[in-house]
Amino acid sequence: MAHPETHHGHIPVMRNRMGDLLAKPIEAMGERAVILDGTLGAGGHSEYFLERFPQAHVIGLDRDSRSLVDARARLAPFGDRFLALHCRFDQFEQPLAEAAADEQPAACLALEHGFGGALFDLGVSSMQLDEEERGFAYRVDAPLDMRMDPATSLTAATVLNTYSHGELARVLKVYGEERFAGKIASAVIREREKEPFDSSARLVELLYATIPAAARRSGGHPAKRTFQALRIEVNKELESIEQALPAVCNRLASGGRAVFMSYQSLEDKLVKRFFKEITTSSSPPGLPMELPGHEAKFSLITRGAEQASEQEIQDNPRAASVRVRAVEAR
Ligand SMILES: C[S@@+](CC[C@H](N)C(=O)[O-])C[C@H]1O[C@@H](n2cnc3c(N)ncnc32)[C@H](O)[C@@H]1O
Repeated sequence: MAHPETHHGHIPVMRNRMGDLLAKPIEAMGERAVILDGTLGAGGHSEYFLERFPQAHVIGLDRDSRSLVDARARLAPFGDRFLALHCRFDQFEQPLAEAAADEQPAACLALEHGFGGALFDLGVSSMQLDEEERGFAYRVDAPLDMRMDPATSLTAATVLNTYSHGELARVLKVYGEERFAGKIASAVIREREKEPFDSSARLVELLYATIPAAARRSGGHPAKRTFQALRIEVNKELESIEQALPAVCNRLASGGRAVFMSYQSLEDKLVKRFFKEITTSSSPPGLPMELPGHEAKFSLITRGAEQASEQEIQDNPRAASVRVRAVEAR
């Protein structure tokens, strides 16, 4: 039998620290406490919260219906303390209201008292990376799909085969931070005129041929940045984070905390910028005192971005790039 920590081969990143960050409001709220797990995945963090906070409820969101099936089965022993909703994490209001109308206790509590805690462990899950046919991994030849929610229509192949040179170059440059975006976009357009792209091996081959050898030696795997860019575009990942930040912060109970775990700088920049905005007073600078009604409604819990310990990175390489930021509602 799988040990809980290695369920699906996935070790939840900084699991204990996430529990420590949420403990204060969750323990204070007792039976009214609801934690929103915005990125349920295999349910590793949710399972830990349900065990560590025996009075709390957890609502898990995922846009990937396969993750939901697995996580629901894993967390079934917690009965109605756990509720899973299939949605984009910035679009939870309607499914939450429907679940409350259906008298699901976790949803009713959340609507009445707000969330005591919220966690967003961004990006793709180990399960999604392992399911080769979904096309997230560049080391195996697979269909150019990359949809987290297979019910949406845009795939990586559609992006490659239909976007203009300008659009493609922008996606690669902005979302992949790829220096050779223009050159790669030109090569893709030349190649797709011969035959549309449908699987990853041909794209990886094109990237090897287009990115100069010197840059390949220093810049990591030549497909890494292009795959990241396509994934972000296909799943509208940054738009979703940008909209989730205010949506979740507005739903926090007083004293409730929101924690974001980012794995690349584009995500972390959005979180950092938004947290700065909501933790800064809107009184004009230079006044000797705070103007009433202009106080910041949130305070920062983390100083800068927290990172995983050396030991955890050794045990779980996925933790190497994580940056954690948290705020508390006043
Ligand atoms: C890194 S995994 C989370 C792993 C989880 N914390 C655990 O311990 O098992 C991220 C999950 O979030 C989901 N996800 C990513 N972006 C999403 C979004 N915008 N809306 C809903 N789910 C999303 C992915 O489908 C994936 O299952």
